[in-house]
Amino acid sequence: MTTATGTSAGPLAGTAKTVLEVLGLHRAYGSVRAVDDVSFRLAEGGSLGIVGESGSGKTTTARIVVGLERADEGRVLIHGRDRSDGAHGTARGKAGRLARAREVQMVFQDPFLSLDPRTTVGAALRETLALHFPGADHARRITELLDQVGLGSREADALPRQLSGGQRQRVAIARALAVEPAVLVLDEAVAALDVSVQAQILNLLFDIREQTGIGYLFITHDLGVVRCVTDDVIVMRSGRIVESGPTQQVLADPQHPYTRLLLESVPRPGWDPRSIAAARRAL
Ligand SMILES: Nc1ncnc2c1ncn2[C@@H]1O[C@H](COP(=O)(O)OP(=O)(O)OP(=O)(O)O)[C@@H](O)[C@H]1O
Ligand SMILES: [Mg+2]
Repeated sequence: MTTATGTSAGPLAGTAKTVLEVLGLHRAYGSVRAVDDVSFRLAEGGSLGIVGESGSGKTTTARIVVGLERADEGRVLIHGRDRSDGAHGTARGKAGRLARAREVQMVFQDPFLSLDPRTTVGAALRETLALHFPGADHARRITELLDQVGLGSREADALPRQLSGGQRQRVAIARALAVEPAVLVLDEAVAALDVSVQAQILNLLFDIREQTGIGYLFITHDLGVVRCVTDDVIVMRSGRIVESGPTQQVLADPQHPYTRLLLESVPRPGWDPRSIAAARRAL
């Protein structure tokens, strides 16, 4: 399988143009600090991974970036412009909403929840295109989008329930791409797929990134996935970033004990869950 690692200087190295910048995000739910002073940058066409155990604040961070959740404090900038002010941010109604949607799109773990069960794949894509690019004839673009995610005319006529999990996830990706976003946020987008389908989708995402220059914010608890598809990674624990850097470097030479624990927690021969649980309690 193709890998995205190895050649990029990466967004944290500060060389490429920044598409997404997050500054000092905070979000609390009662006494739980779900996101606690989180900052990072994503380069145009780059891929940044967020890893961390369950409950570490990954999804909350993603939802704030997308605009599904508000932050108590902090800023989210797209191409240097604050998402909550300026031309798009304060524009109310349809125009503002559409403009914000073109900045960031999100793909969830379970595409069933985001697809209308009564709408065929082709019709769903047509709806999205009509909303964002009114007046144009979308037939060619629909074929192109389906082709980009490895689907054909058979799938175009299908309802979501007539597709496999992997095919549904491709549809969700195609619909996100239809909007031509600057950033695609993928929250455990391949977690529910079996490993061979997972590999196909990861390859597909790699190719799409090369073709389109869309930046990825890639959330996963799977360090193998992070190794394959991200240039840089941030490691979150209890809402805070405990380590960040080029993915190769962080995985090969983790500096924080929590990152080392995450790496040691991956099942392999000779692996001992009890000693890992003990190490985790000690941390
Ligand atoms: N709407 C909410 N109301 C109350 N608490 C919440 C809410 N959303 C998240 N939390 C809490 O915030 C913390 C971070 O949750 P979040 O969903 O961001 O974690 P995560 O890293 O995505 O975990 P997972 O890997 O299990 O998806 C958790 O302690 C969670 O219980
Ligand atoms: Mg989550």
